[in-house]
Amino acid sequence: MPVITNIEDLKRIYRRRTPRMFYDYCESGSWTEQTFRENSSDFDDLYFRQRVAVDMSNRTTATKMIGQDVAMPVALAPVGLTGMQTADGEIKAAKAAEKFGIPFTLSTMSICSIEDVAEHTTKPFWFQLYTMKDQDYLARLIQRAKDAKCSALVVTLDLQILGQRHKDLKNGLSAPPKPTLANMVNLATKWRWGLGMLGTKRRQFGNIVGHIDDVGDPSSLMAWTAEQFDPALDWSAIEKIKEMWGGPLILKGVMEPEDAVMAANVGADAIVVSNHGGRQLDGALSSIRALDPILQAVGDRVEVHIDSGIRSGQDVLKARAMGAKGTYIGRAYIYGLGAMGEAGVTKALEVIHKELDVSMAFCGHRDINNVGRDILKVPAGFSGDWQ
Ligand code: GLV
Repeated sequence: MPVITNIEDLKRIYRRRTPRMFYDYCESGSWTEQTFRENSSDFDDLYFRQRVAVDMSNRTTATKMIGQDVAMPVALAPVGLTGMQTADGEIKAAKAAEKFGIPFTLSTMSICSIEDVAEHTTKPFWFQLYTMKDQDYLARLIQRAKDAKCSALVVTLDLQILGQRHKDLKNGLSAPPKPTLANMVNLATKWRWGLGMLGTKRRQFGNIVGHIDDVGDPSSLMAWTAEQFDPALDWSAIEKIKEMWGGPLILKGVMEPEDAVMAANVGADAIVVSNHGGRQLDGALSSIRALDPILQAVGDRVEVHIDSGIRSGQDVLKARAMGAKGTYIGRAYIYGLGAMGEAGVTKALEVIHKELDVSMAFCGHRDINNVGRDILKVPAGFSGDWQ
């Protein structure tokens, strides 16, 4: 067992063990990948203020996201095709999150279905919803999330159409992979992954296949998105979804203060400042730079969370200090999952928790709930003075 001390260690093992098309799917941004890169690198422009001779005993990272207790202000982000990273991936990740005491968010485009995950967990998880043209299917999906006792609906606002990720096109991304020569050659070296897949029946989009008729190509995220996602989504549709759902609502993909105000106006419980991990609008600002003007625009009207670019506990601490109540990790836990299944997700969470806890102490705090912007040196103009 290798000694794992950071998220990069998990990423290296993940890369070795995972079929190329799924590694590439995870590790891509859209087009030039500028936003994908800057989401992470912009965290490096924020510096901590080290404090000394401060009591560091009895620390806690426990807090709340949308009123729910969390062991640290981190949720697992919805990630499509997680059950292709390793067999039954969503169930494994949900179990790790549950044991750690943080929320797991199941993607609409998951391999394990809502019911599968509910059956294998004991605490409520969150469900991420893409808005579909087919209103009956949409209503059924929301009802299924209610029946599974999901404790928040996370509606993604920035993926009515799909941003282009070159590698997915070149690799012919599909779930399950098609038996092309290139795939067979690559899969031949991934025996661990293959054995896992042979041992599960969950190899297709579990929330879709068997739940809707007439799907053109049920194995292709790109085809399904183009065919079924609703390009006409607007705020009135979101109001309708809120009504149908009737529970805690999180709106994900907000990057501009005007949209944050609209989200507060429709009565969202939280928004996620997110550019979809740099997978949609390439050339958008990083989420961490977009955060401040949004906080200023909405004040306390809606809880503000953030995702995109978070790979460490230091990033979580910086985001929290900047004012985000909660953060989400996507790739950082997928690395762990693809490397070692449930134990790998737990490892990723342990790594991030330790980084968060110890860095918080070095900044002079013992309780995450008391951390504010004063622990940071934020360069002038960090959030920009845009014309
Ligand atoms: C969403 O499903 C994505 O691929 O970003």
